[in-house]
Amino acid sequence: MDWTPQSWRNKPIRQVPSYPDQTKLAEVERKLASYPPLVFAGEARRLRAQLALAAEGRAFVLQGGDCAESFSDFTANIIRDTFRVLLQMAVVLTYGAGVPVVKMGRMAGQFAKPRSSDNETIGGVTLPSYRGDIINGPEFTPEARVPDPARMESGYFQSAGTLNLLRAFASGGYADLHEVHRWNLGFVERSPLAERYRGLASRLDETLAFMAACGMTSLNTPQIRETDFYTSHEALLLPYEQALTRIDSTSGDWYACSSHFLWIGDRTRQPDGAHVEFLRGVKNPLGLKVGPTTSADDLLRLIETLDPGNDAGRLTLISRMGENKVAELLPPLLRAVKREGRKVVWLCDPMHGNTISTSLKVKTRSFDAILGEVRGFFDAHAAEGTFAGGVHVEMTGRPVTECVGGAHQLTEDDLGAHYETFCDPRLNAEQSLELAFLVSEELKQRRGYGA
Ligand code: PEP
Ligand code: CO
Repeated sequence: MDWTPQSWRNKPIRQVPSYPDQTKLAEVERKLASYPPLVFAGEARRLRAQLALAAEGRAFVLQGGDCAESFSDFTANIIRDTFRVLLQMAVVLTYGAGVPVVKMGRMAGQFAKPRSSDNETIGGVTLPSYRGDIINGPEFTPEARVPDPARMESGYFQSAGTLNLLRAFASGGYADLHEVHRWNLGFVERSPLAERYRGLASRLDETLAFMAACGMTSLNTPQIRETDFYTSHEALLLPYEQALTRIDSTSGDWYACSSHFLWIGDRTRQPDGAHVEFLRGVKNPLGLKVGPTTSADDLLRLIETLDPGNDAGRLTLISRMGENKVAELLPPLLRAVKREGRKVVWLCDPMHGNTISTSLKVKTRSFDAILGEVRGFFDAHAAEGTFAGGVHVEMTGRPVTECVGGAHQLTEDDLGAHYETFCDPRLNAEQSLELAFLVSEELKQRRGYGA
């Protein structure tokens, strides 16, 4: 395979920033290439093995976090709150799915954003679009919008700091199942849908009490005290990804060491393009966004390029069709992938096909459309006899007002109160947990039927 960490440079590329200062760019790339890796290849292999179970319906995947992390949101509280809600969601989903939940944050590196337009115009002034904090700044000034290579180094250090805290939380006692369950009870009591959720919560209560009575406690059972938590981001900024690519001394294979899991976005999945070229050569588990314009032929070609060995756990297909299109567009793809005997994980991203603009031109998403797409995704898998492997959501642990609907019935008029995202609208903590409870109910009902 004629692949090298820089072979992507000979391929057509989309969504790249043009750095005016190439000398500085080369200098930052050199520095990053000499820094320690952020993740260890053994961790990526472990995640891959867990994803292999999801490909067979023996695990369920929860991937979630910000649309775009930002340099100004780099605080312990923000990281903790998102991590906590992901754990809460995972416990609820574990109960519904009846299998382990593999947890991946869109965290510790989710800084680069693909844009539909290269420029942004406000009040007759046109400037280059904001492409994420690792590239340029969000402020609408000519200075902020110049791509600055120094931002890659800041992104690296912020990822290292975030990852350090996540690892500490995951294994240092914060993720104790009893604590997570206690937080969930608090959520249920505050929810307008408390009546509906109480049943599930009390069954979990009984289960934990039963396990404790049998002698399984946090003190003697690591599975109760600790958890595995993985990081992921879109591998969009290839100079950064290349600089953090290393040979693993154990296996001799190349790994992208910026994150455990990397995905290719819907705008950069050209079979002959640079992003596909880069990712085909690293051994990490990979994601591929599958949007409404994906043809079955293209998809099979991409699968062949990214996973020629048909290794379960290598490739996760992240469907993001939109609530109204999923029933029509997903089944032919499920069928084609199944017909070719491809061992992939299918996730549902119910966010990116359901973004709408309000009358005030604010981007939002409706909770009902999000839930509707997840249900459509489950229906399609049940009908085709394939496994619905998990969900991929944009969410935060903060009480933001970015998506409409949910039990607290947020309306367009409420969006102004705490609209904080730097990119797409996220579910807030309450909406995320509600989604987990409703999806869990759905999973439980469907267990034993179809796939
Ligand atoms: C994203 O996940 O933030 C994103 C841009 O998604 P997509 O590539 O599916 O549009
Ligand atoms: Co997004």
